[in-house]
Amino acid sequence: MRPARQTAREVICRGRGGAVASRETICDDVGAMIIEYAFDRPISVDAFADVLRRSTLGERRPLEDRACLEAMLGHANLLCTAWADGLLVGVARSVTDFAYCCYLSDLAVDERHQRRGIGRELIRLTQSRLGPRAKLILLAAPKAVDYYPRLGFERHPSAWTIAADRPLA
Ligand SMILES: CC(C)(COP(=O)(O)OP(=O)(O)OC[C@H]1O[C@@H](n2cnc3c(N)ncnc32)[C@H](O)[C@@H]1OP(=O)(O)O)[C@@H](O)C(=O)NCCC(=O)NCCS
Repeated sequence: MRPARQTAREVICRGRGGAVASRETICDDVGAMIIEYAFDRPISVDAFADVLRRSTLGERRPLEDRACLEAMLGHANLLCTAWADGLLVGVARSVTDFAYCCYLSDLAVDERHQRRGIGRELIRLTQSRLGPRAKLILLAAPKAVDYYPRLGFERHPSAWTIAADRPLA
């Protein structure tokens, strides 16, 4: 039997060619659990908050502010998800123009499913929805600073942020 991780890569590579189905069911590399990936499957605010909490990323997201979570989901235009037996176990939430830039705001995998390739596949699925000029842009959470370089991301020496309500100097 083919290694399951390889099967996952093949699925997403077909997506790059434009022939991806809206959902794909693949085996993860443990083989025992079926992980289903989707890029067009809506999720509720409660499910979003729950997977953020289960991943620990919830510590750094405004879980107490339901209106903000609703806006985060409602205005994101690329949402890739991973499901295990009907349970949302991973999410990659992005805001993008699909052609030039894609801000990957939240990548989170349920702690019970971490380090099994789900985060990698969610990023790969996100990439597969973008045109060839587009770049992923993100701010790594402290727990994930060593994760992105491992996957081939390059550190940008001049990234800048400012809060919307902070007056300009
Ligand atoms: C960071 C996170 C998204 C990674 O997802 P994941 O499914 O666990 O990671 P993957 O299985 O795709 O890991 C791919 C590789 O990176 C490694 N890796 C995973 N998490 C890592 C971390 N935090 N730091 C360094 N390396 C890590 C894996 O061991 C794996 O290595 P391998 O290819 O040699 O086997 C997930 O652990 C998570 O949700 N963490 C908590 C929330 C968070 O910090 N999110 C990031 C917000 S910017």
